[in-house]
Amino acid sequence: MKNIAVFASGNGSNMEKIHEYLEAHPGVAQISLVLSNREDAYVLERARRLNIPNVSFNRYDLYQSPCILNILNKANIDFIVLAGFLWLIPDTIIRQYPKRIVNIHPALLPKFGGKGMFGNNVHEAVLAAKEKVSGITIHYVNEEYDSGDIILQKSCPVDENDTVESLSQKIHKLEYEYFPKVVFDLVSKL
Ligand code: GRF
Repeated sequence: MKNIAVFASGNGSNMEKIHEYLEAHPGVAQISLVLSNREDAYVLERARRLNIPNVSFNRYDLYQSPCILNILNKANIDFIVLAGFLWLIPDTIIRQYPKRIVNIHPALLPKFGGKGMFGNNVHEAVLAAKEKVSGITIHYVNEEYDSGDIILQKSCPVDENDTVESLSQKIHKLEYEYFPKVVFDLVSKL
């Protein structure tokens, strides 16, 4: 069994979908750890409900101390998933997990990516630009925001009467459909 760590800053619905997918396809991998930079993030409550070990941390823990790397090592983590995680992953962690960290972005990169482009900000920008199409990008993580090699993109139409809420719902639907499967496929090949 491979061990996956999920970093998330907020709601954590993608984390839960990945967990469900892994449970439905047993014997390959499990989410062994959920980490959040916010101690009140709902993702931690989900993790507690699902009996997944979980931890919150601050900037010092991530950027100035070996604390997070130690936690990952102790839990024998093989693969890292960022699911709505808003901070940059430090080089020390990226070096230890080459091509083993993936992120999901709620738009078609390289458009609508970079610092500050997260959550509803992305959908607002897509609507403001009057894009006809949006979608999801699953990509490897490097030292910069949203610029690692792309693994998969899927698109959906943006309608004239779409709102941030309706677009975000369409995007989440795509995320739930594809992200767990991509994670599963990548981890199966480790
Ligand atoms: C997703 O839309 C993801 O693409 C983005 O943040 C959102 C996280 O949603 N990076 P959730 O916390 O998994 O519900």
